[in-house]
Amino acid sequence: MSLLCALSILYGLMVLPFQFSALNTGYCVPRKTVPYYQNGLRFFREEGIWNYSTMLMREDLDLLLLGAREAIYALDINDISIRKAAAYWRVTEEKQRECTYKGKHAEVECRNYIRTLHTVNTTTMYVCGTNAFSPTCDYMTFSDGQLSLEGKQEEGKGKCPFDPFQRYSSLMVGNDLYSATSINFLGSEPVILRSSALALRTEFKSSWLNEPNFVYMDFVGESVDSPDGDDDKVYLFFSENAMEFEFYNKLVVSRVARVCKGDMGGQRTLQRKWTSFLKARLDCSLPEPSLPAIVQDVFLLKHQDWRKSVFYAVFTPQSSSSDMSAVCAYSVSAIGDIFNEGKFKTPVAVETSHVKWVMYTGELPVPRPGACINNAARSMGMSRSLDLPDKTLQFIRDRPLMDEAVRPLTGGPLLIKKGAMLTRIVVDSVTALDGETYPVMFIGTENGYVQKAVNYAGEMFIIEEIQLYENSEPVRVLRLSSSKGQLYAGSEFGVVQMPLSNCSRYETCADCVLSRDPYCAWDISAGQCSLISTLASFSHTVIQSLKEVNISQCPQPDPVATVDFALVLENNIQLPCQPDSNLAQVRWRFSDQTLHSDNKYYIYSEGLLILNASESDAGLYTCASLEQVKGRIYSRTMAVYRLHPHTEPGVGDSNTGGDNSSDSTHSHHTAAPGLIPDLGDEDPLPPENQSFEGRVVGLKVTVALLALLCFSLAGLLFWNFTRGHFECLQASQSSSESKERRHSAEYVHIQNRTSEIKLLGPEAGRPCIANNNHSAVDFKGNGEHHFTPMANISSLDGLGYINDESEI
Ligand SMILES: *[C@@H]1O[C@H](CO)[C@@H](O)[C@H](O)[C@H]1NC(C)=O
Ligand SMILES: *[C@@H]1O[C@H](CO)[C@@H](O)[C@H](O)[C@H]1NC(C)=O
Ligand SMILES: *[C@@H]1O[C@H](CO)[C@@H](O)[C@H](O)[C@H]1NC(C)=O
Repeated sequence: MSLLCALSILYGLMVLPFQFSALNTGYCVPRKTVPYYQNGLRFFREEGIWNYSTMLMREDLDLLLLGAREAIYALDINDISIRKAAAYWRVTEEKQRECTYKGKHAEVECRNYIRTLHTVNTTTMYVCGTNAFSPTCDYMTFSDGQLSLEGKQEEGKGKCPFDPFQRYSSLMVGNDLYSATSINFLGSEPVILRSSALALRTEFKSSWLNEPNFVYMDFVGESVDSPDGDDDKVYLFFSENAMEFEFYNKLVVSRVARVCKGDMGGQRTLQRKWTSFLKARLDCSLPEPSLPAIVQDVFLLKHQDWRKSVFYAVFTPQSSSSDMSAVCAYSVSAIGDIFNEGKFKTPVAVETSHVKWVMYTGELPVPRPGACINNAARSMGMSRSLDLPDKTLQFIRDRPLMDEAVRPLTGGPLLIKKGAMLTRIVVDSVTALDGETYPVMFIGTENGYVQKAVNYAGEMFIIEEIQLYENSEPVRVLRLSSSKGQLYAGSEFGVVQMPLSNCSRYETCADCVLSRDPYCAWDISAGQCSLISTLASFSHTVIQSLKEVNISQCPQPDPVATVDFALVLENNIQLPCQPDSNLAQVRWRFSDQTLHSDNKYYIYSEGLLILNASESDAGLYTCASLEQVKGRIYSRTMAVYRLHPHTEPGVGDSNTGGDNSSDSTHSHHTAAPGLIPDLGDEDPLPPENQSFEGRVVGLKVTVALLALLCFSLAGLLFWNFTRGHFECLQASQSSSESKERRHSAEYVHIQNRTSEIKLLGPEAGRPCIANNNHSAVDFKGNGEHHFTPMANISSLDGLGYINDESEI
């Protein structure tokens, strides 16, 4: 017996995570999970070609240019499964041989990986590839439906990495190519290079770049309306070994650096080097005390007024013991403040030839080191960086690091996610029906999902997660076209195209409004959830309620039809019901009482199981989905079943006594199934009956019974095991007491004693830890919200019934 119990506890341990996370994690869970087989996305790959990691959107040409290993494709930007043209750029045998002589793998490293694709003009692109550890660039044109490489074979050193596995970044500004990569075969000489008529680069000094990993570059046109005549800038994000922290080991930190577009280098000091290279540490702290998080990808959400532009950055932990990644946002103006007004760090020698970096407190030379040429400099007769005095240049050559770190816009992360690491991010700016503009983040993960998340006035909400690929493979590149309303995601095996929103997935008004998807609104006259961009006019016939989440304006839905089920005595009866939101819980009711899992009923994610049915089980069962939004609970009737004894057709209803008389009442009940905030009492029942052949599920649930009896024990164990894993950070004022209460509610739920309604206290996850545990039992990709005990149960049949706890 104890063996059986142990077995079922084990079983309990396996299924409980799913149940838990479906319960009370609030906003930490994406509201919907769209699995691969439902995603309906367009896809492109060519047989025999891998590493689709470079993309260039040419909205002007209606093309998506895609760089892969030894191939470049021109795809229809509206439908990437349509390939318009392709160009192949293979390594020559000679190059490949040279590469292998140098100790590199012929089929892996000694191939040509396309890493750079930039727009030159309307017809021409600039392309670079690693070309068997011998980076090479070329011009490529698209005309008459043909993609052709010009065969110019320009030197690509410093523009494109040698090593196909090395991160790097580049940017075309006008005719100048800015690139951040290694300039040598060994990958040991990092540079930030501008290839132009006047080429500039960084110093080879570890105080400038210390084993960096370059991540992202972008341009900000800061000269526009600049009162002090400032210059445009290029920002670069990377991680590198810290020099400012004393640490027993190499400590990696995240950085933002910038250079001025008009920089021409110095005359004697810093000749042909940046005079405006400044860097600062990027701060993005995870809740658990840990080493600094490492920046993995960045996206600049541009605003007409550049001061309001915001960088969104994805961070992952430095130590492999943590499974939390985060998104932090930084305003361009906050970064500018640090560079323009902040203090510098300076090295001081402490004894034993050891150098320590401390805040520089002395007087700064004039003009300010690292500043672009601005009105102040011009008024001193310096109109180019070549005119800057040696004092200023020597200062910046030796002290490129700012003392202060750049803090996130919101003080801390916008989103913290457990489980599969976040890899890439793009952000769209959506103007909703309330006239406000919301940034919607699309974040790729290591296991091939995209998380779609919005921040509503400090409250993080994950609208949905979409599984992009059939296999769990990391998202390597993300591009977003606002005008097309499409997202493009590349991996090693192919590219998918995903609409930014698929409103038709929200089938009811309540689902549409509760989704809080700023792209979608319920169109009352059409009776469907539609993209707001396709709606003719924003009239009163459209419902969207992003911040308040008020569904009271939704029309009453059609009542749910009652399904008849035959009750076979002493059998187990399965009544299916699945909520359409990960944030919802299910509540089953039978003749005015709420059901709980006990030795009579078993409630699981896909329905209700009535064990060893007896005559008294005949009657009406309703399944409602309770979804908590902003502290309110919305109830929707998902299914209604009428059970009547199989053996005596027609007589069944009388057996259930009171239920019979209430049937007629119910059939005239026209109130819609709970569209108003539900108070947890009565579920109005629908009028219609749709008779069809009842179904008796002859499941062998012996082990389910056993599991139920052992549940409380398993729950107890499991409770302690999981309590650390499912926490959602509370809004600032939320007390630990309420957290405690929530936890005990979860616990009690396992013990099958409390009413589910009590589990849903008002709480807002802010910021949110989206649980995305990717454990061995996570058999449906990300979807920890699903679990299917039925299969497990039936696979363990053949055991006898246990009626009584005393038997154990
Ligand atoms: C290219 O894709 C192959 C196949 O998945 C993978 O093994 C390899 O590591 C990838 N190479 C790079 C440079 O990403
Ligand atoms: C585009 O740029 C290429 C390379 O610089 C040049 O040869 C070509 O004439 C340009 N075409 C147009 C239409 O400007
Ligand atoms: C099922 O219920 C009946 C009474 O309704 C009882 O006699 C029987 O022992 C039960 N069977 C099991 C296996 O629990």
